[in-house]
Amino acid sequence: MKIAVLGDIHGNIEALKAAYDTAMFLKPDKFYHLGDLGGYAPFVNEVVDFLVNRRIEGVQGNFDEAVADNREHCGCEVEDALQEEMANVSFAWTKYYVSFRSKSYMKNLPAEIKFTAEGNKVWLFHATPHRNNLYWHEDRPDTFFLEMAEQGDADILIYGHTHKPYRKDINMKAFINAGSVGKPGDGDPRSCVAIVDITPQAVKTEFLRIPYDVEKVAAAVIRSGLPNYFAEKLRQGT
Ligand SMILES: [Fe+2]
Repeated sequence: MKIAVLGDIHGNIEALKAAYDTAMFLKPDKFYHLGDLGGYAPFVNEVVDFLVNRRIEGVQGNFDEAVADNREHCGCEVEDALQEEMANVSFAWTKYYVSFRSKSYMKNLPAEIKFTAEGNKVWLFHATPHRNNLYWHEDRPDTFFLEMAEQGDADILIYGHTHKPYRKDINMKAFINAGSVGKPGDGDPRSCVAIVDITPQAVKTEFLRIPYDVEKVAAAVIRSGLPNYFAEKLRQGT
């Protein structure tokens, strides 16, 4: 079974279209998304429509949950006062512009998806199994990885939230961070989609990096009233 995983799209419809079209060439059996559909770029409703129209199943991110519940804060981790201010502005913008339909979609997203493929138990969630805003970076100790896997008795764990793709294998378990479609954070501005090919013999992972029209989205960010800060972040892939 070959799946294509769309992590953290964050309102970037151009990146999503490019990622989807490219992944389609590899003929995946199914697409999944990992939530965080709005924020940072202005096309939150277009992103939701795209996923709904193609019946792409996915899980709820912390941003989706906070928007759907009309919270005061997005639950995003920040490093300084500027980041905090920017996160607050983007969150307020998204809450104002999100349609009722998109909000209902976000509200009803499941926290997790589980299935079995070729005898492997696969588990998808946004950030970690039981906390959707905890950053699970590659450098966490192996014990953390194994504790997470034990919580769901899973063999293949697929998640996002950090916007930095990686795969790590420990004790015959595969831990796959799918990266971010719409706001990559690893210094590479190209969109990212993870292709996970599960066969009886192996679990193969490929992170496709796909160029898209960053300037078109950067211009839309500025036109929308979102801070220029986010346009620059898209250009830098940070
Ligand atoms: Fe997130």
